[in-house]
Amino acid sequence: MPRQILVTAALPYANGHIHLGHLVEYIQTDIWVRFQKLRGNRCIYLCADDTHGTAIMIRARQEGRSEEVLIADMQAAHERDFAAFDIAFDNYGSTNSPENRQLCGEIWQSIRAAGLVRAADVSQLYDPVAGTFLADRFVKGTCPKCGAADQYGDSCDKCGSTYSPADLINPTSTLSGTSPEVRSAAHLFIELEKLHAFLDTWTQSGNHLQPEIANYLKGHFLGEPLRDWDVSRPAPYFGFEIPDSPGNYWYVWFDAPIGYMASLRQWCDKTGEKFESWWPREGTINESAQPPTSNLQPPTSPEVHHFIGKDITYFHTLFWPGMLKTAGYQLPEKVHIHGFLTVNGEKMSKSKGTFVRAATYLNHLDPSFLRYYYASKLTPRVDDLDMNLEEFVAKGNADLVGKVVNLASRCAGFVKTTGLSARYPDDGGLFAHAAAEGEAIAAAYEECDYNRAMRLIMALADRANPFVEENAPWNLKKDPAQAARLQEVCTVALNLFRQLAVYLAPVLPRLAQQAGELFDRPITKWTDASEPLVDVPVRPFQHMLKRVTPEEVQKMIEESREEAAATTPAGLPLAPPVPSDTAQQDSAAALAAEPLTSECSIDDFAKVDLRVARILSAEDVPEARKLLKLTVSLGGDVKRTVFAGIKAAYQPEQLVGRLVIIVANLAPRQMKFGLSEGMVCASGPGGAEVYLLSPDNGAVPGQRVH
Ligand code: 2FM
Ligand code: ZN
Repeated sequence: MPRQILVTAALPYANGHIHLGHLVEYIQTDIWVRFQKLRGNRCIYLCADDTHGTAIMIRARQEGRSEEVLIADMQAAHERDFAAFDIAFDNYGSTNSPENRQLCGEIWQSIRAAGLVRAADVSQLYDPVAGTFLADRFVKGTCPKCGAADQYGDSCDKCGSTYSPADLINPTSTLSGTSPEVRSAAHLFIELEKLHAFLDTWTQSGNHLQPEIANYLKGHFLGEPLRDWDVSRPAPYFGFEIPDSPGNYWYVWFDAPIGYMASLRQWCDKTGEKFESWWPREGTINESAQPPTSNLQPPTSPEVHHFIGKDITYFHTLFWPGMLKTAGYQLPEKVHIHGFLTVNGEKMSKSKGTFVRAATYLNHLDPSFLRYYYASKLTPRVDDLDMNLEEFVAKGNADLVGKVVNLASRCAGFVKTTGLSARYPDDGGLFAHAAAEGEAIAAAYEECDYNRAMRLIMALADRANPFVEENAPWNLKKDPAQAARLQEVCTVALNLFRQLAVYLAPVLPRLAQQAGELFDRPITKWTDASEPLVDVPVRPFQHMLKRVTPEEVQKMIEESREEAAATTPAGLPLAPPVPSDTAQQDSAAALAAEPLTSECSIDDFAKVDLRVARILSAEDVPEARKLLKLTVSLGGDVKRTVFAGIKAAYQPEQLVGRLVIIVANLAPRQMKFGLSEGMVCASGPGGAEVYLLSPDNGAVPGQRVH
């Protein structure tokens, strides 16, 4: 009986672009979903953009546009990136949707009815310059427990303790750099401790979590009373206003996981499926009821699987099951948690160019190589995954091109007129062996042990290739008397290739598609690997995968570095804020790294020599994607060369003669294309939306800007 499986990946924040760190999870999940579909299970992959919260509100303000416009643009970019990496969602929604608002209301009602909500005044830090209360991640200061400096407002990197931002010593707003004030406002809390017994049972039994996660929760949270969870935020806040608490909004982490359900509701509306048959509701619990202690489901019940990164464990293993239990919804069968991506053994780094956006990767490299590389590294454990760039090149070329595609490319041409033999020839047991390995490979995929699955598949490729070497079809081709043998050898080799393509289909859907087209027999199910194809035509061989070169990887790194440089002095602050080197998925932290401005004294400001300049010439820099080379006059004979990231917004010829403002005393910086001797001032988020600052008529080159 096919299983019915609802799968989600974490909803990406709408204030940053997708990068290689994010892709670990979306690819991991996509592989699992494709595997389930290939096995004949009913499986859907749901996701959405996570759109609410202070980070989006502040960013929209900075960019001078509405939150709705900002999140729509970012969602379009996210969906484009995912599609380009063959990440195939059955529905991609938004947490800012009517479906989500309604579900939030319903779940909130259940939580209220269960007597789990209490109100209390909270003294929160308020930034009078930015005009907003400060979310935890917008405050930094000294840890109240261990004294470590420069810690965020919610938890300490050094000692791991969690606290409220008001407890920080010497707090600073990362939005404006000012010292925040303490202001009091009423907040609503969910009393999680009332669900402690249920969470003990759910997290520690039933195999819903990896063992290391279950132990972590037991050691860090469940050993003591669970703290109440503050789920409301006072205005101004971009989110849903709480219907029974006007002026207060649900905290983004309340409505984000409900976004999984909202995406399901959209998918059901599109397809005519029933919501309840994918995410059943068994009735709500109330205050007097004992918390149920098991999550037993009838054997045919649908399964809910969440894939997330380790940084958001707490939300998905304590809050979310608590919310679901209280509202009477079926609990997740499993929360699959992965580690972070490192590149060449280090955190992704903007300055080293290893903080690579999905779109930048695609400018240089084939997405199939990344999917395969990640698959070869992913295990069921929570360990971090290292992308070693040399290994990335070597493994993709050796395995995919050298061992898999070559099987087909070396044989297909020899049988393009004859097709495959009418009967499957004796191959010494190769096909039968690979067919028998199908269940072991499937078990590895099922357990998310893709590393093991890839090793088992490549072991099959290692048996198939010597068969081709030994039978050398290229030699048989030379002797007309060997025509029948040539057809047999190619029939074997091409069937072994097709078996590999079936087993790799969850990872390499494009290759599976091409393998299907080669014989006009689409690969649609796992058991396509258990019966050989005979007596079928062989279509002209189409190129499948091109080798990757270290130079292409290097170009990608250089472009990433160039993008990063365009966000720091010596370029222009053009690109929208992207997650910082340290916070892979925490875009709130990323925004905090790109504050409105940090405080500087008048003396500091006086050090910046802003001058009026006239653009004398403007040229394209063909090797750079964003830069134009400007020669500007600062009056008299004083000229400067400045590289500015404004290519998408201006034609060089539009610029000649124009007055601009430049930072004239910036230390010169050697760029790949030449020396940049200043910075042109502009506003806007970047790309085509860049606006050069110009003085009014009458200003003259060289004048100081005060
Ligand atoms: O950590 C993040 O990127 C969050 N936007 C994930 C949300 S997952 C779910 F709960 F919505
Ligand atoms: Zn600490």
